[in-house]
Amino acid sequence: MTHLVLVGMMGVGKSTVGRMVAAELDRPLFDSDEMIEGRTGRTVREIWSTDGEAAFRALETETLVEALAEVEPSVIAAAGGVVLSERNRVALREADAHVVWLLADVDVLVGRVRNGMHRPLLDDDPEGTLRQMYDDRAPLYQEVADAIVSVDNRTPSEVAKAVLRCCA
Ligand code: S3P
Repeated sequence: MTHLVLVGMMGVGKSTVGRMVAAELDRPLFDSDEMIEGRTGRTVREIWSTDGEAAFRALETETLVEALAEVEPSVIAAAGGVVLSERNRVALREADAHVVWLLADVDVLVGRVRNGMHRPLLDDDPEGTLRQMYDDRAPLYQEVADAIVSVDNRTPSEVAKAVLRCCA
């Protein structure tokens, strides 16, 4: 019985699919951004603008490590930037966890995330930022992934079923 961790770019549907998979498996869901907001009582955007990205990333690591350390198997919807840190990537590889990379065509992501309030990185030039981010991060998602599930042309429920088929 291992944790099931969803990683991937902003807008790929980690939280939505995570909720569905957790409900289907009757497991708790840990959603990084929600955990951070619940714990600090502040929004991602507030933390980002007041304390800066490094402080946010430290909270991201803290919540990931804590979620992975839970004994009860869970579903973890990891925030998109979680793979940026070497420490997080090692934690993902070493944990008793099955890591699924939800993969989307960047054009699909561009259409989805324009108005993401908890995504300060996309305030300026969301399309260019996403494209660059995809190029930078794809090898990192690949590095931690045990499986890859494409979300292109699939509803969240179809993606959740694909995740369950490959990994549960
Ligand atoms: C980020 C992704 C966001 C949020 C923050 C930074 C990133 O989470 O943590 O805006 O660097 O990819 P989602 O992946 O849930 O959108």
